[in-house]
Amino acid sequence: MAPRDVGCRFLAVLLLASCEAIASSDRMCTEREVNRTYSCGHLGLSELPDTLPNSTEVLEFSFNFLPVIQNTTFGRLLNLTFLDLTEKHSPDGKSGVDR
Ligand SMILES: *[C@@H]1O[C@H](CO)[C@@H](O)[C@H](O)[C@H]1NC(C)=O
Ligand SMILES: *[C@@H]1O[C@H](CO)[C@@H](O)[C@H](O)[C@H]1NC(C)=O
Ligand SMILES: *[C@@H]1O[C@H](CO)[C@@H](O)[C@H](O)[C@H]1NC(C)=O
Ligand SMILES: *[C@@H]1O[C@H](CO)[C@@H](O)[C@H](O)[C@H]1NC(C)=O
Repeated sequence: MAPRDVGCRFLAVLLLASCEAIASSDRMCTEREVNRTYSCGHLGLSELPDTLPNSTEVLEFSFNFLPVIQNTTFGRLLNLTFLDLTEKHSPDGKSGVDR
């Protein structure tokens, strides 16, 4: 096998790996402020991603598919103060849940 051939194969594997990394980070929450503010909207999530730190204080979680909001769903986020679930409009027009 010529050395050049090996180089090409190596490159192909690298490219494949980076494509997979991008595909999976597609469904990750966006970090707006380290450990505090995260945006997980429009990701089609049905549960809270494990990647969210417990220290999250502000979470945008609109347009996902939470089947039921259980008392444990956001329970580990002890410091959560604002949760945006925009698709479930409240009658007074406010689009978030304050706690
Ligand atoms: C975020 O949280 C991690 C884990 O608790 C901690 O190691 C890190 O220092 C924190 N970063 C900031 C900027 O608070
Ligand atoms: C919540 O906030 C307090 C005060 O900033 C901090 O000491 C505590 O570690 C936080 N809890 C979590 C789970 O991050
Ligand atoms: C959630 O609710 C269930 C049943 O009502 C209860 O047994 C459980 O202790 C609750 N968990 C929390 C974290 O409040
Ligand atoms: C977050 O909180 C959960 C439940 O309280 C705990 O099991 C988990 O270890 C915590 N994770 C971190 C990174 O502190």
